[in-house]
Amino acid sequence: MNWQKEYLEETDSTNRYLKELASNGAPEGTVIIAKKQNAGRGRLGRNFFSPEGTGIYMSILLRPEIALSRSVLLTSMAAVAVACAIERVSGLKAQIKWVNDIYLNCKKTCGILTESGINTESGSLSFAVVGIGINVGQMEFPEELSQIATSVSNECGFNVDKELLIEEVLNELERWYPTLWDGSFLEESKKRSVLLGKEILVVDVSPEGGSYSALAVDLNELGNLIIERNGVTEVLNSGEVSIRFSS
Ligand code: BTN
Repeated sequence: MNWQKEYLEETDSTNRYLKELASNGAPEGTVIIAKKQNAGRGRLGRNFFSPEGTGIYMSILLRPEIALSRSVLLTSMAAVAVACAIERVSGLKAQIKWVNDIYLNCKKTCGILTESGINTESGSLSFAVVGIGINVGQMEFPEELSQIATSVSNECGFNVDKELLIEEVLNELERWYPTLWDGSFLEESKKRSVLLGKEILVVDVSPEGGSYSALAVDLNELGNLIIERNGVTEVLNSGEVSIRFSS
C-alpha cells in the first residue's frame, strides 16, 4: 500500500476531514493524523475526547471492492490490526472488546470508528474511512475513568513513541487488509476477544432502550456477536447495541 500521510496541528475530526477528501477523489491509502481534535467522533454518536499531546488521532482511507453487506467487517479487521500494533510496541497482550475497542489489562486504550461512503448509483461501497483513536501517553485518569480507561504507556511502564505506533498500525493494516475478503482475520479476532465465553450486559441503544444479560458465545462470518439469552441463540448487530461487562 502506498500510504500518503498528512499531518494536521488541529482539526474538528480526522474522520470528517478525510471523508471530505474521499468524496473529492482522494486515493486509497490517504492517512490523516491530527495532534488534537475539537469534535472527535465516537461510536453511537458519542464524542471522542481528543486532547493534544497524549493521543493518536488518525483516519485511513480504504476503497475495498467488497459487497456492502461485508463492509461491516472493516472495523473488526482494523481492530485486529491495531491490537497487533499495540502489542508489538508495548509487549502486552492487546484484546478486543467487540466490535471496536482495544483493551490492555481489561481497560480501554483505543476506539475505532469506521464511516463509509456509498455509491448511490451502483449501491456499492465507494470508500471507508477507518478512524483510530489511541490513548498513548496519559498517566493519570479521573476517578470515574480509572477503572475503565488506560493508555498504552501507563500499562507498559515506558514512554511509547507515537510515530512508531502509527507506523506499526499501518504495517499491521497492510498485513490484515487482504484477509478482509476471506474473513480469516476473524479467527484472530476471536482469540483476542474479551467477551467470548463471558456473561455480558447488552444495552439496546434504540429510543425504546432496555438492557439484558446474556452469554457471549461466538462471532459469525460477518463479525456479528452471537449470544445466548435464556437458552435462545441471538445475533447482535454492532450498530444497535452497546456491551458492558456483567458485574
Ligand atoms: C469509539 O471509541 O467510540 C470510537 C472512537 C474513534 C475515535 C477516532 S480518533 C480519529 C478518528 N476521528 C474521529 O473523529 N474519530 C476517530
